[in-house]
Amino acid sequence: MTLADLSDGMLEVAVGKIRAANDPAMRAVKLDLLADPLPAPAPDVIYSAMTLHHIPDTGAILRRFHDALANGGYLCIADLDTEDGSFHGPGVDVHHGFDRAALAAKARAAGFASVAFTTAHVMSKAVDGQSKPFPIFLMVARKA
Ligand SMILES: C[S@@+](CC[C@H](N)C(=O)[O-])C[C@H]1O[C@@H](n2cnc3c(N)ncnc32)[C@H](O)[C@@H]1O
Repeated sequence: MTLADLSDGMLEVAVGKIRAANDPAMRAVKLDLLADPLPAPAPDVIYSAMTLHHIPDTGAILRRFHDALANGGYLCIADLDTEDGSFHGPGVDVHHGFDRAALAAKARAAGFASVAFTTAHVMSKAVDGQSKPFPIFLMVARKA
């Protein structure tokens, strides 16, 4: 299992978790998902948690994931449902979550089939001193 991120701080967290799990099958690598070659051999599963909203071109990253996966492999993406921008607050240039139907259409356009959604989690975050719920979907899609 390869854990990938662009941020040194996030990679340190990942390395700490791998050490704590003491699992030799896991590793962490610094990778720009948009630009760097994705690790070989082609994986059976690509999983992304709360990263899609940081990637400006959603269609491009979905196409990259599709190209990188083994045939019959699964893409699993956990991210925010559409929100009003209060998750990150003003001045942060990210997607304000995703509309599930629109994201499914982009996944199909990238070549995925059997695109399905569940609600994986509801994160509570303080916004203006009040706890606010932010639903997080899990999209699972298969490379045909
Ligand atoms: C909200 S954090 C989520 C981190 C982790 N996946 C988790 O669930 O705790 C979003 C992460 O996306 C990473 N990221 C943004 N753009 C990226 C890119 N082009 N390639 C790799 N990682 C990227 C950031 O470095 C950041 O650590």
